[in-house]
Amino acid sequence: MSTTHKAHCLILPYPVQGHINPMLQFSKRLQSKGVKITISPTKSFLKTMQELPTSVSIEAISDGYNGGIDQAESFLAYITRFKEVGSDTLTQLIKKLENCECPVNCIVYDPFLPWAVEVAKDFGLVSAAFFTQNCVVDNIYYHVHKGVLKLPPTQVDGEILIPGLSSTIESSDVPSFESSPQSEKLVEMLVNQFSNLEKVDWVLINSFYELEKEVIDWMAKLYPIKTIGPTIPSMYLDKRLPNDKEYGLSLFKPMAKECLNWLNHQPISSVVYVSFGSMAKLEAEQMEELAWGLKNSNKNFLWVVRSTEESKLPKNFIEELKLASENKGFVVSWCPQLQVLEHKSIGCFLTHSGWNSTLEAISLGVPMVTMPQWSDQPTNAKLVHDVWEMGVRAKQDDKGIVRREIIEENIKLVMEEEKGKVIRENAKKWKEFARNAVDEGGSSDKNIEEFVSNLTTIS
Ligand code: UDX
Repeated sequence: MSTTHKAHCLILPYPVQGHINPMLQFSKRLQSKGVKITISPTKSFLKTMQELPTSVSIEAISDGYNGGIDQAESFLAYITRFKEVGSDTLTQLIKKLENCECPVNCIVYDPFLPWAVEVAKDFGLVSAAFFTQNCVVDNIYYHVHKGVLKLPPTQVDGEILIPGLSSTIESSDVPSFESSPQSEKLVEMLVNQFSNLEKVDWVLINSFYELEKEVIDWMAKLYPIKTIGPTIPSMYLDKRLPNDKEYGLSLFKPMAKECLNWLNHQPISSVVYVSFGSMAKLEAEQMEELAWGLKNSNKNFLWVVRSTEESKLPKNFIEELKLASENKGFVVSWCPQLQVLEHKSIGCFLTHSGWNSTLEAISLGVPMVTMPQWSDQPTNAKLVHDVWEMGVRAKQDDKGIVRREIIEENIKLVMEEEKGKVIRENAKKWKEFARNAVDEGGSSDKNIEEFVSNLTTIS
């Protein structure tokens, strides 16, 4: 074992941005505590990355496809082949690293890839599952795994009380997926995160104790759970880790200069930042309602509309914004979200409630209006509204559309009304809790210390 490194963790993410980013940030925390890190994305994902992290080693494995999931005939075909080829190439990689000055002694894997546990066991390595969702969502998938809960479109049984949720569970509170064979396989994968989990040494959760005490305590009776978040780059928290230079990885090229320049000209807390993450596809009718809701709110807004979504904007919307005498709105294809959220001009985040976005808003103290679309987003929105009370969930009509009046009303509530004061206060409170958790001696920092010192003992 090397004198410079205490241990060596191989990090195995599922190849999507929302999963790689939190694992990369966690890796940097491990690295700051003396652990050597090798990140193993798939070769196909590596090709799509705009920039590579410079502070950690990267050794790709293969999912069996040159073009990644887009090349596979179905989702099932992809995960089946990934398991087969991924296990083989991961095995080869660990063997190759046996010759380095500090061989791998732990695999931190995304539980979307539960087969990694078998590889870890074959080599006698420590295994740690890294759940990128919060603990309430994980607990819901656990209940589905145990067969006591079914997700929509099946009717949800209203009798079940999930620890950490303030009321018995309803269809609108649980992860939701469209009804298609593709989605069924996705749900299967989410539920399968619990397969092999009884064999792992650690279950790491991208959240922090203060945020979800009740459910963490409940789950900790079943699994060796440790919360290690929020996993946002250290430069956005009070203390920057040594050598932490990256802002995180990005799949799309952010219009950084343009966004920051525009924000610099806006008054403090005056801007609604609007984004639906990297995957959500809105209906054209919803885009139109959103556009009018933003305009009618009379607030300044910075709206991320990915290029694949742009055709759904109302006709001439962008042109009219540019021609308007006041600089009310700015539409961009992708932005540096963390830099935007920490900007003093931001007063509210209208979000799809993806977990990364939610955790970023919590860590930077930005109150939210939530418009969840699918997967874990309804549950995250429920937590933001009912449990953490740092935002409002915009109500959909019977067609599943949030109308312009509701959007306007909710933005005003969060940004200016007396009724929204408690939300704005809570946003500040949660920001403190989030920062304290990863600060030296905080709940997540202590968990990471414990994880590292255990690895060191084993080494
Ligand atoms: C997906 C799921 O949809 C989400 O529900 C799940 O919790 C994680 O995986 P995504 O939809 O992309 O992720 O949402 P989210 O988790 O919020 O991640 C988006 C990431 O992209 C965030 O880290 C955000 O900072 C970043 N982003 C978003 C940008 O950097 N720029 C943008 O313009 C928009």
